[in-house]
Amino acid sequence: MDQNINKRIGILGGGQLGKMLCQAGSKLGLSIAIMERDKTFPAYPICSNWTDGDITKYEDVIAFGKDKDVITIEIENVNLSALEALEEMGKEVYPPTDALKIIKDKGLQKTFYEGLNFPTSDFTLFKSKDEIIKAIENKKLSIPFVQKSRTEGYDGKGVHVVRSEDDLKGLLDTQSVVEDLVDIKTELSVIVARRPNGEMSYFPPVEMEFHPTANLVEFLFSPSMLEHYIQEKAINLAMLVAQKLEIVGLLAVEMFVTKNDEILVNEVAPRPHNSGHHTIEACDISQYEMHLRAILDLPLINATLIRPAVMVNLLGEEGHSGTTLYSGLTEALQTAGVYPHLYGKKETKPYRKMGHVTIVNADIDKAKNIGHHIKNTLKVIAQT
Ligand SMILES: Nc1ncnc2c1ncn2[C@@H]1O[C@H](COP(=O)(O)OP(=O)(O)OP(=O)(O)O)[C@@H](O)[C@H]1O
Ligand SMILES: [Mg+2]
Repeated sequence: MDQNINKRIGILGGGQLGKMLCQAGSKLGLSIAIMERDKTFPAYPICSNWTDGDITKYEDVIAFGKDKDVITIEIENVNLSALEALEEMGKEVYPPTDALKIIKDKGLQKTFYEGLNFPTSDFTLFKSKDEIIKAIENKKLSIPFVQKSRTEGYDGKGVHVVRSEDDLKGLLDTQSVVEDLVDIKTELSVIVARRPNGEMSYFPPVEMEFHPTANLVEFLFSPSMLEHYIQEKAINLAMLVAQKLEIVGLLAVEMFVTKNDEILVNEVAPRPHNSGHHTIEACDISQYEMHLRAILDLPLINATLIRPAVMVNLLGEEGHSGTTLYSGLTEALQTAGVYPHLYGKKETKPYRKMGHVTIVNADIDKAKNIGHHIKNTLKVIAQT
């Protein structure tokens, strides 16, 4: 008897990742409920079971989780104490709260990697901006470096790169991790999945290209062009991190490949990830289905890339805030192998993630060319 498929799943958060989890869950006929604050969230139109609530509020999360079997997340900014209480009540909470606690705090995350001798950039923890300035004056810290807020950073917010004295003006006045600025050849992500029984699987590595000013992924491709042995190393490292964190569900492991072909762990996310959107059209299993299988303790498979893919994030255009409009969409739809995903966010603002487009093509260079063209022509603007 396959009972696991009947478990009641509760997802905290209804953004685009929640939406795509619902889409994958619907294929398997799963019972999925979402908690979000009001009806304007991306998952609303396709989620049949919605609870109005604040995922950062203890009482709301408890009330939502009480009648579910498995509780998962699509964003890390959730009430951890409530998840711990639900775990104590015997609920299955995935990612487990011990792992989530470490991941939510970039300081704890870096300390965790260091403690296990995982390769990661050297770092120091600071309590405030003044402490950083003092460390520079005392020659204990030197420019360049990268400052990251320990908590609540996402999509490049909470990351400040200091390349010159002038950049010190922009230091964040918060508890932070200050790490060496890495000479990056390329950025790599490996998404792995782990079941409660420890069985694991992985997706082929993807390479990322970042927006030069917003510190945000804007272009991703798979297969990676890196030498095979580097990719194997990255997969093994990602699996080891997931194992040591005792993750259940997905773990996206973001890594840097240095100019010397060293692999460093940057950070992880215990949920579906931006670097796995393309798996919907390009792999034999999507990251969303894999996450649901893992948290339901169903069999996992190593994902195979069926065809090369490029993924472009559709970010809100600079200088545009207001009611969402698309320009260039009709043209994009004329090309075969182009799959736009529009998240349905009613309001756009600069750099907000409004959608993504996956481009599949047997020839990766062709896919990249189409990707560049789409990036230049498909725009998310505001109604004037
Ligand atoms: N130590 C570093 N050296 C060089 N570049 C870095 C370093 N740390 C971060 N970056 C750059 O900044 C980007 C964002 O950093 P990070 O992933 O830590 O932040 P984030 O806000 O959590 O990102 P996201 O939510 O987009 O994954 C990295 O992908 C990389 O391009
Ligand atoms: Mg990141």
